[in-house]
Amino acid sequence: MVLLSSQSVLVVRRIMYSKRRTIKDRWLWCMIVGNTLCKRTIIVYCIFLFTVILIWRYHEKSIKVEEDEDTLKPIILSSSINKIPSTTIIFQNDEIETELLPTIDLNRLDYWLTNNSKTRDINLTAILTPKRRGKYLVYVCHENCGGWGDRLRGIMSLFMLSLMLDRNFRIEITHPCNLTHILRPNLYNWTQSIDGLIAIDPITHRRRFNLTRKMLITTANTQQNILTNVSQILHHNNSIDSIWSEDVLYWATNKDYFYQLSNNIFYRKKFKSYGIMTKYNIKLEILFPLFYEILFRPVQKIQQHILKYKFKQKTHQIICAQIRTGKNPTIPDDKLLPGRQNISETIFSFIDSNLTNENSNIFLTTDNQQVYNEAQQRYGSRLLYVSGEITHLDRSLNINQKVCREQDKLLTDFHLLGELCDISIISNSGFGFWGNLRRFQPFEQLYVFCAGRIYKIESMWHLYKMREQNQNGELC
Ligand SMILES: *[C@@H]1O[C@H](CO)[C@@H](O)[C@H](O)[C@H]1NC(C)=O
Ligand SMILES: *[C@@H]1O[C@H](CO)[C@@H](O)[C@H](O)[C@H]1NC(C)=O
Ligand SMILES: *[C@@H]1O[C@H](CO)[C@@H](O)[C@H](O)[C@H]1NC(C)=O
Ligand SMILES: *[C@@H]1O[C@H](CO)[C@@H](O)[C@H](O)[C@H]1NC(C)=O
Ligand SMILES: *[C@@H]1O[C@H](CO)[C@@H](O)[C@H](O)[C@H]1NC(C)=O
Ligand SMILES: *[C@@H]1O[C@H](CO)[C@@H](O)[C@H](O)[C@H]1NC(C)=O
Ligand SMILES: *[C@@H]1O[C@H](CO)[C@@H](O)[C@H](O)[C@H]1NC(C)=O
Ligand SMILES: *[C@@H]1O[C@H](CO)[C@@H](O)[C@H](O)[C@H]1NC(C)=O
Ligand SMILES: *[C@@H]1O[C@H](CO)[C@@H](O)[C@H](O)[C@H]1NC(C)=O
Repeated sequence: MVLLSSQSVLVVRRIMYSKRRTIKDRWLWCMIVGNTLCKRTIIVYCIFLFTVILIWRYHEKSIKVEEDEDTLKPIILSSSINKIPSTTIIFQNDEIETELLPTIDLNRLDYWLTNNSKTRDINLTAILTPKRRGKYLVYVCHENCGGWGDRLRGIMSLFMLSLMLDRNFRIEITHPCNLTHILRPNLYNWTQSIDGLIAIDPITHRRRFNLTRKMLITTANTQQNILTNVSQILHHNNSIDSIWSEDVLYWATNKDYFYQLSNNIFYRKKFKSYGIMTKYNIKLEILFPLFYEILFRPVQKIQQHILKYKFKQKTHQIICAQIRTGKNPTIPDDKLLPGRQNISETIFSFIDSNLTNENSNIFLTTDNQQVYNEAQQRYGSRLLYVSGEITHLDRSLNINQKVCREQDKLLTDFHLLGELCDISIISNSGFGFWGNLRRFQPFEQLYVFCAGRIYKIESMWHLYKMREQNQNGELC
């Protein structure tokens, strides 16, 4: 007895309990007569059982999502990167109260839903209602997705497609870091997890995919025949959903598919159910500003940054200059843009000679530190500039945490291009163009630099003409 108690509390308890009972059972009898072999067997068995339980529980924790098919592995696994804390920029004496923020956001959305004639009839309720259960379209960007302009083009195309196919829309951007570091959902929640994607097997307790998945890639590097095939399906097919019938459609793209979607006569009725009555209004440049407000709102710290600039200089006219030079010492990996040799000099002298208002402020966003230095010398205190490092989302030299911090400046610049400018002078670039489209009157006092000249752009038609005259914009 004494010997036993020192070995295992469990076994002792059993014995004490059994003592109170009549000796009928062979097993109990075995314990009480002190058969040492029997006792030892039981102790060893208990230790063995305990070990098995320990190992099993540990194993259970470490089980990873198991794949039915391997094609999507990198996407699922790469979701574990980016656990980066927010930046260290702190606004200590901010004059703007945070209560101001929601009203300002709402007004922007209001404008597109009530004042703008082309987006006024859009049925916001229909856009926001959950789509078919278990059907998803996910914009993905894990590598080589292009800059912010390219990404926005892809996101908007797929958002439109998700409405057309009655699929729930999600966004997954992890390159160079999670999009949620700078933007959060406004009205449409694109961060919500995919319901029912992963199921746990009741018998083996393994995690497995319970929804079928497909990955489509139509980016700049995709083969031409695939691009053409996809484009034709979107343009002509009457049952897109039976061609890509999987529950979750992951799609990486930087393409503008609005033209194809608007011309697919089999989906006209669907568009009407969202309040888009004519195919002439299914255009990226028309729907972009509304979709942007529905999907996005900057995170608090960036929103405050934006407001600081917006309210700082409301007294003077603001001229915005977006100067993208291409390959330069600040972003040496960028592509060479031969038409941009004297872009900064051309734009600055245009401001000085043609927009002669001595009091106006100049807001500058550029991909080139030298341009900033020039502007600072030239305009001094008239210059408005968001501090921080210059970056291109796909081509930056810096990695990880630093790039995440740099995104703050990029997004602040982007929003200011749409919220600050009385006059806009932009490069022939997606970033400048989408940024400018967020202005309430995007074609009012808009100028675009192309091949050493500055064009006044009063509508999309002017822009197309300008590009046509310059080898489809190659020279710009
Ligand atoms: C991005 O961040 C959000 C919220 O912080 C998180 O829910 C999501 O899983 C992250 N996405 C990836 C792909 O890491
Ligand atoms: C939108 O229209 C209303 C009334 O028609 C007007 O009061 C308001 O100023 C307009 N908003 C903008 C931003 O133009
Ligand atoms: C907007 O869409 C919702 C849901 O589809 C529908 O119930 C409502 O009648 C629509 N509103 C208008 C004005 O068409
Ligand atoms: C979006 O959904 C996620 C997950 O359900 C939730 O945590 C988050 O608060 C939602 N965001 C917004 C802006 O509604
Ligand atoms: C898996 O999906 C099927 C049908 O899609 C559904 O009936 C089932 O409940 C799902 N299983 C789990 C564990 O969610
Ligand atoms: C076009 O794409 C569809 C769906 O991905 C595929 O079934 C079909 O074989 C492709 N056609 C060609 C000619 O590549
Ligand atoms: C739709 O696509 C399928 C498969 O690619 C093709 O066989 C069919 O002819 C297409 N239908 C139309 C109307 O283009
Ligand atoms: C910029 O270059 C173009 C052609 O290369 C030339 O016509 C123009 O005068 C130049 N502008 C300036 C301000 O140097
Ligand atoms: C700017 O002013 C100059 C001279 O004043 C003029 O020749 C030129 O056409 C103007 N440029 C634009 C784009 O209006």
